[in-house]
Amino acid sequence: MLGTTRVVVSRILKKLENKGLIHLNVRLIFYEKDSTINTDMIEVIFKHLKRRYIGLHLNLNKMEGKKNIGIGFLIMGMFMLYGFLLIYLRDFAPNKLEWINNYSIGKHFESRLAHVHGNLFSVLNIIIGFLLIQFNGQIKSAKKISWLAMIGLLMPIGILTEVYFGLPPIFVLIGAVSMTGAVIWLGISFLQLKGKE
Ligand code: HEM
Repeated sequence: MLGTTRVVVSRILKKLENKGLIHLNVRLIFYEKDSTINTDMIEVIFKHLKRRYIGLHLNLNKMEGKKNIGIGFLIMGMFMLYGFLLIYLRDFAPNKLEWINNYSIGKHFESRLAHVHGNLFSVLNIIIGFLLIQFNGQIKSAKKISWLAMIGLLMPIGILTEVYFGLPPIFVLIGAVSMTGAVIWLGISFLQLKGKE
């Protein structure tokens, strides 16, 4: 009876570990105490697993990366909508010829720059957010990297406020430096990641 239970429990543990829901340590504790296994112990292990498994879903609020994904998609949607305005200006607006002739200068150029970087930085936030969640707890400066990536979105937004409201390009600069910092920091963090022994 105990032998069958052991096999079943060990299979479940293996599956959970493969899915990344538990760490190898849990399995090792289980095997170390293998000879003295009793129902109390199995209960303790399952309580632990339940906490970890449920925690994985509930603690998403505390995990870094969720905001990056949500905000990334929303800002991307915004810059996609802006793409429709660019189509209008190029193909339908009364002064479309003047707009086309100014492709690589002034407002036309700046608007395209905002559209392109808005989409790129949004995609970056989605990727960074996804990775921070996947590697939750393993990347030391996750919170800072997450914030830097989000602040990075000020770059394309800053181009728009410059073009349409004449604001100084300070947000463009802050955003550009932040996003650059975020990707370099994340790159270094990944190189420093240690695999399981
Ligand atoms: C519904 C969504 C989108 C629409 C309607 C749209 C529309 C446009 C338009 C009209 C232009 C030309 C702008 C000009 O006149 O200079 C443009 C350029 C561009 N878009 Fe989008 N876009 C959309 C989504 C995206 C996305 C998701 C990305 C990238 C992930 C993207 C990347 C670019 C790039 C790189 C250019 C510059 C192309 C060049 O100058 O050679 N766009 N888009």
